[in-house]
Amino acid sequence: MDRAVEAASDFFKLPSETKQEFASDDIRQPVRYGTSLTDGARPSRAFLKHYVHPLSEWMKYWPEKPPTYREDMGKFSAEVRRVALQLMEAILEGLGLGKHYQHDEFERGLQLLQVNCYPKEPEGESAIGLAPHSDHGFLTILLASCPGLEVLDRSTNTWRVVQQPRHVLHVHVGDLMEVLSNGRIKTVVHRAVLNPGEARISMASIHSFVMHEKVSVAKELVDEQDPEKYKESSFSDFLDYVTSNVDKKRMSFLDSLRM
Ligand code: OGA
Ligand code: NI
Repeated sequence: MDRAVEAASDFFKLPSETKQEFASDDIRQPVRYGTSLTDGARPSRAFLKHYVHPLSEWMKYWPEKPPTYREDMGKFSAEVRRVALQLMEAILEGLGLGKHYQHDEFERGLQLLQVNCYPKEPEGESAIGLAPHSDHGFLTILLASCPGLEVLDRSTNTWRVVQQPRHVLHVHVGDLMEVLSNGRIKTVVHRAVLNPGEARISMASIHSFVMHEKVSVAKELVDEQDPEKYKESSFSDFLDYVTSNVDKKRMSFLDSLRM
């Protein structure tokens, strides 16, 4: 974990021209670097997003600088994927679907890594580093170098600060878990705030099915009292939604799937 954080941190310290080689507005690029302006003109976050699984297919597109990046991120990602698959089995079992439910689809599923670098907060600026959102996949496993994550408590509609002991991984359920479980498990709305003390690195590993594989409500969880609540969709449908909806992000992708 430390080596992954260090590799990420070293990447963001590279000269801007080197990082810009990965810049693109095309969200289907296998590797993409960018900065986001939550409000105002000062970037509140720089990010590097790339596909991870299978490594043999995607690693060749990853940054070659810093020289440790591929090996250290590759190792970290593979371990995180193993954790995600195990957790997924436990959750499927908990839902009464059996731990091998759609086993092949999860096994060959897509893993995406979103690496974030938040600057430390200057005096008097907005403190939001990443605006409130839910993640797209079934599960997100997040590692962060210091505190900053906040989760929305649905019962009180207030933000809760998430503790960040060293070497702790956060697990969020994402939109696809809400779909698959027909709403029994709710996606987690979260945000990141900037730290007055130090810059912050975080890495979110997002797990879903491959590009064109549809995720739908588990038929076992549908009956007369509990009709199907969500339409099926693929990761590709999600990407299409995000690109077509950039100007008027009124409705989240999950909301667009509700029946
Ligand atoms: C994300 C995310 C939170 C954080 O990348 O999707 O929610 O703490 N990150 O950086
Ligand atoms: Ni997130």
